[in-house]
Amino acid sequence: MPENRRFLLRRRPDGEPVREDFALVTQQTPVLADGQFLIRNHYASLDPAMRGWMDDAESYMPPIPLDNPVRASTIGMVEESRAEGFAPGQWVMGLNGIEDYSVGMVGGFTQPIDPAMVPQVTNYLSLFGAVGMTAYFGFFDVCEPQKGETVLVTGAAGAVGSIVGQLAKIAGCRAIGIAGGPEKCARLTGRYGFDAAIDYRGKDEAALTHAIAQAAPDGVDIIFENVGGIILDAGLTNLNLHARVGLCGLISEYNTPPRGARNLWQLIVNRASIRGLLVADYVARFGEGAAKMAPWAASGQIVIDEHIDEGIENAYDAFMRLFAGTNQGKMILKLT
Ligand SMILES: NC(=O)c1ccc[n+]([C@@H]2O[C@H](COP(=O)([O-])OP(=O)(O)OC[C@H]3O[C@@H](n4cnc5c(N)ncnc54)[C@H](OP(=O)(O)O)[C@@H]3O)[C@@H](O)[C@H]2O)c1
Repeated sequence: MPENRRFLLRRRPDGEPVREDFALVTQQTPVLADGQFLIRNHYASLDPAMRGWMDDAESYMPPIPLDNPVRASTIGMVEESRAEGFAPGQWVMGLNGIEDYSVGMVGGFTQPIDPAMVPQVTNYLSLFGAVGMTAYFGFFDVCEPQKGETVLVTGAAGAVGSIVGQLAKIAGCRAIGIAGGPEKCARLTGRYGFDAAIDYRGKDEAALTHAIAQAAPDGVDIIFENVGGIILDAGLTNLNLHARVGLCGLISEYNTPPRGARNLWQLIVNRASIRGLLVADYVARFGEGAAKMAPWAASGQIVIDEHIDEGIENAYDAFMRLFAGTNQGKMILKLT
């Protein structure tokens, strides 16, 4: 069996992950049992949620066991098989680990995919994967947009946020995005079609609240929240009557003790709602979401950016881009 380089979680990060929390080791791939197949992983999706899986905390998924590969959605090709339906050469996608080879089994999380159905096979990790489905179902199902409403998207230049802004425009809404730095803000309006962009860097809560009020003089009807902290609080202060807040992520709190939202009173004042969303709830409807988004992608109404770093030895640096904000689009690690 081939040698397998594996990016292991060695210890649980205390705050921001450091290099020493991980180790790159080489091990033998196991001998396959009946019903199993060997996957050569080509691409791993790097997602902010992986930070939460590294903690020993109760969540929607068990923690990554120590000395196991860091869990990630991967795309790969079946190399050997003792399983019906998974012939060598078949492209597959699954929730595996950051490693050269993973073992899949019939009835597990790994499913066949058809690269001919998408412009790039990596699109299964972006627009046509969990990211795109988070944006699609999070926006349409959880936020229930109406034509003419104002939508505020935080983390707007990222994988999920950039798609939500474009969906908001397709839904006939006004889209305002918040992102870090002038370059990302220029991309929001220039590439993704947001009506206005706000650079949060260097702004305290009062300045952010003011900037949102200027960009949304008639108030905000929907917040698609990816960040939390003072950015969420500034958004809450600008809510309209019966506004909806779709709580998708809180990335500003993943490496620090949660600060929490302090302006929840605004939900009462405005009879507004806040609702958490988890893309895993929509797995059975992914086909529906993909069918809706395919023509928008084909016509250029939705563009998707993928930031692909190469080499398993760069897994740590690539993952940390998500927290430094140096990823320009969906963060993916190429393993082959
Ligand atoms: N609920 C679900 O099912 C679900 C599914 C997928 C993703 N999510 C959530 O969606 C959010 C976005 O995920 P993504 O995959 O699209 O990642 P992403 O936005 O492509 O990358 C993360 C971005 O977050 C921003 N960021 C990082 N630390 C920050 C901080 N302290 N304050 C403000 N912004 C910060 C950075 O952009 P800037 O340069 O603009 O700071 C960074 O580029 C995350 O919160 C993630 O957990 C939730």
